[in-house]
Amino acid sequence: MTGSEPRNTVAMTKAEMTTIAIAIVTMLGGVLAALVPSAGAADIPPGQKLFQTNNCVTCHTIDHKLVGPSFMDVAKKYAGQPDAVPTLSDAIKKGHVGTWGPVPMPPHPTLSDADIKTLVDWILSLK
Ligand code: HEC
Repeated sequence: MTGSEPRNTVAMTKAEMTTIAIAIVTMLGGVLAALVPSAGAADIPPGQKLFQTNNCVTCHTIDHKLVGPSFMDVAKKYAGQPDAVPTLSDAIKKGHVGTWGPVPMPPHPTLSDADIKTLVDWILSLK
């Protein structure tokens, strides 16, 4: 038997296999990052970022009532009202109670007026 050496076997070294494994994991990581919205922070609106990084998330969500009203409900209620921006800015800065129920929202005196404006513009843009 002369043809005893394997001819068509692709011999892979351990190092080559590791390189391929790393390449696959890296590719999968890229795909996952693209699928999970929060991983690509670039396209989150600035207002939403402020919402997520301040304490608003403890009591509010975008689309359902928690302790406070959903921001979509807020947008609906104030749609077309000329004084929506000052009303909501005031409520966030100084706290508010009575519009949505008996539970008060605490004041947020440390938020800058610019940040509050960004938040309110974002809330009112929700649909
Ligand atoms: C401790 C819970 C809590 C936190 C934290 C909180 N809210 Fe509220 N929020 C409420 C409640 C309760 C109401 C309803 C108040 C009312 O009925 O007047 C409310 C109402 C609102 C309204 C509607 C105000 C109005 O006059 O209709 C806006 C806008 C709002 N919150 C934005 C925010 C933003 C932005 C943050 C973060 C900076 C935040 N809230 C943090 C509980 C909270």
